[in-house]
Amino acid sequence: MLVYLDGAVLPLAEARISPEDRAFLFADGLYEALLARDGRLLFWREHEARLRHGLDALRLPLTDPAGLEGVAERLLAANGLVAGEAVVYLQVSRGAAPRAHAFPEPAVPPTVYATVKPREPHPADRVAKGVPAITVPDDRWARCDVKSTALLANVMAQQAAKEAGAHEALFVRDGVAIEGSHSNLFAVRRDGRLVTYPACNYILEGVTRNEVLRLAGALGVPVELAALPVAELRAAAEVFVTGTTTEVLPVTTVDGRPVGDGLPGPVTRRLREAYLARLDELWPLRAPLAPGA
Ligand code: PDD
Repeated sequence: MLVYLDGAVLPLAEARISPEDRAFLFADGLYEALLARDGRLLFWREHEARLRHGLDALRLPLTDPAGLEGVAERLLAANGLVAGEAVVYLQVSRGAAPRAHAFPEPAVPPTVYATVKPREPHPADRVAKGVPAITVPDDRWARCDVKSTALLANVMAQQAAKEAGAHEALFVRDGVAIEGSHSNLFAVRRDGRLVTYPACNYILEGVTRNEVLRLAGALGVPVELAALPVAELRAAAEVFVTGTTTEVLPVTTVDGRPVGDGLPGPVTRRLREAYLARLDELWPLRAPLAPGA
């Protein structure tokens, strides 16, 4: 696999960063995970806007965030990922400098790293049956709107989910279910209203979340941007999570108890279909070449 590092495309095994890189020492960096179809990035404008928000919040001086689109597309082409779906990872750190908490002075060039890999679709079962989730205390910092590489709380939460046989861990802050370890959280109340946490410093404002909210509006699904106490999550008719690789994924048990009747619900199914149809409309995949063509 070829990766991108600071201007060069090279084999992963040859990529070298300094042990003084601030992403290594302090998790002082940002990232984005995106999908690509036929070598083109999906929702780049939205991902770039979120990256710029993080760069501003962390005062990280990356001169050309817009140029990362070209970097990713060049890397997809270099890896032959120009047909079908791929996952793109972009990371920017404050660069390498002798360890001191405050920013390096003078500033050093940010380290820019990118990888691509073929996208693995969800196993059919996962979508048809939905996935189990657990709740965990939200012990993250209070700037979850910044897509920082400081993901230790998310790592611990996802490991707890894995050990419990669950697909996702849902963070609970002050009794309220906020979002997943790597996804946004939605519930459908018994009266049909769709609830998700309002965009603020306690959640990552997901690109998929925002698209799903737009689609819900277009489909006439009433939307409530509100806190969802765990008791209301448990009493919900439907629960689902959203994310770039997660798409719209039904959650059918929470902490071992079935959500609604324990099957993916109709609102979740409609929104999932509408979301996938929207991707096909915006980025139609070229038909694969016939064998021998
Ligand atoms: N995670 N919330 C958190 C905490 C996330 O890490 C993510 C995405 C989301 C969904 O955001 P989006 O719809 O823009 O992908 C919400 C990525 C996929 C990751 O960590 O790999």
